[in-house]
Amino acid sequence: MTRILVLNGPNLSRLGTREPDVYGLTTWPELAEALSKAAAKGETIEVRQTDDESELIGWLHEAVDTSSEVVLNPAAFTHYSYAVRDAVALVTSAGLPLIEVHISNPHAREEFRHTSVISGVATGVIAGFGVNSYHLALAAVRQRRA
Ligand code: DQA
Repeated sequence: MTRILVLNGPNLSRLGTREPDVYGLTTWPELAEALSKAAAKGETIEVRQTDDESELIGWLHEAVDTSSEVVLNPAAFTHYSYAVRDAVALVTSAGLPLIEVHISNPHAREEFRHTSVISGVATGVIAGFGVNSYHLALAAVRQRRA
């Protein structure tokens, strides 16, 4: 059984009401439910969100310890958290895939969002497809496995 952790950083629990012109109208509970139900045969998908950097780092350590594949939306941590980057590097250097995901396209937004300190250690990046970015990331980890 392959375990996929879909991890989400700060403010993503506010989806649906947070800047809907940027992030869309899908609420966090709707997204979490849809992703939890998206497990293919032989997979389990666990969806989590935190506003806490240390909790997110703990979950990345857990991914290493349980050999889980990871889909990660680091949210604002993307742009400045070297601690999250180092934890992501632990996952990918263990040979596990980690796809960095963004709902919006950060490169088409404010300049501070053009930098990701995560991308250089992620397996790949998917951004700009709304909440469908998550489903594309799930497809990517499956194709890599096949
Ligand atoms: C985001 C983009 C980030 O710049 C922002 O801080 C977020 C969400 C996205 O999914 O588009 O919180 O990661």
